[in-house]
Amino acid sequence: MKPKALEYLVCPSCKKELTLEEAVYDGHGKDIVEGRLHCAEQGVSFPILNGVPVFLEEFKEMDRTQKAFGNQWKLHSKGFFEKGKIFGRDEQKCLGHIEEYYGLSAERGDGNGKVFLDAGCGLAPYAKTFAKYFPGAESFGVDMSESVMHVDSEGLENLHLVRCDLRNPPFREGFADVGWSYGVLHHTPDTEDAFQRLAKIIKSDGQLYIWVYSKHNTKYSFLIRSLLVAPYRFPLKVNYVLSYLFAVPVWLVYRAHYLVRSLNKDVRPKLKKHGYLNIATGIHDSLVPEYQNYHWVDEVKGWFKAAGFETVEVVGDIGVVGARKR
Ligand SMILES: C[S@@+](CC[C@H](N)C(=O)[O-])C[C@H]1O[C@@H](n2cnc3c(N)ncnc32)[C@H](O)[C@@H]1O
Ligand SMILES: [Zn+2]
Repeated sequence: MKPKALEYLVCPSCKKELTLEEAVYDGHGKDIVEGRLHCAEQGVSFPILNGVPVFLEEFKEMDRTQKAFGNQWKLHSKGFFEKGKIFGRDEQKCLGHIEEYYGLSAERGDGNGKVFLDAGCGLAPYAKTFAKYFPGAESFGVDMSESVMHVDSEGLENLHLVRCDLRNPPFREGFADVGWSYGVLHHTPDTEDAFQRLAKIIKSDGQLYIWVYSKHNTKYSFLIRSLLVAPYRFPLKVNYVLSYLFAVPVWLVYRAHYLVRSLNKDVRPKLKKHGYLNIATGIHDSLVPEYQNYHWVDEVKGWFKAAGFETVEVVGDIGVVGARKR
């Protein structure tokens, strides 16, 4: 944890400032690797473990989901699943999304001076990209799973990782200028409630992008999940093996489709290749979480409107970006 993060972190319940206690710094004296953050108001402390502040007392209904995702990201960081990409995205793709959805250009340095929040960050691809391309920004990646412990921070001074529930975050209202939440909110028991809690910590003139599962289209991974009835109840290892097994027929179908379509020379350059490991990652991601809600575009737009976002634009199938008045 960087000492700078202390300027932003507050107690999740009373929102008062926290005091750093018993801090142990790394060899360079820059990062706090162990210690506690104490709330004097309520006499509670939150540990800093392996350089990450942890704001979770109990997981309650989210326990199974956070364990499963923690395991998924741990495996991913060790080289299982896709290599160098997360859900098919590399750094350039993440930067492209940041530029396109928020209108922030790395070349112009528009994101400098802003606070970015990647809510439910997994291995924090977007928080890392924002920190790297906007060195004058502060970039936060938060997740309730142990994923944040497995993020390779690449020495980024302005990247802050926090383990917390985004529904009860250690931030004040209006904390972030730019919020990002990809594939997260639909894994909570009540997607809209999670959205409204997240919207509160975005500045009154800020921007927020979310992507949730769409009711408009069905993916093969949803079908596999339904076939297995409640796969999130299976042991983690079983789901890992199942995701690799189910990826075989899916990959063969994609491959056959690709080969047939590529007979047409005009279409060939536009065809997307689906890698086997990318498919396996997607299937695993669909099997392990306990909650998996699907939504209509108009429903999501309504949440943004209710939260005071004036410009609400749909990007992709059900990615929605909203901006409040500037
Ligand atoms: C499908 S993954 C997406 C990760 C990342 N956004 C990405 O696009 O690579 C969903 C992530 O959301 C996290 N998550 C789900 N509910 C959460 C909550 N209430 N608070 C914080 N993180 C949550 C999970 O632990 C998991 O890492
Ligand atoms: Zn407190």
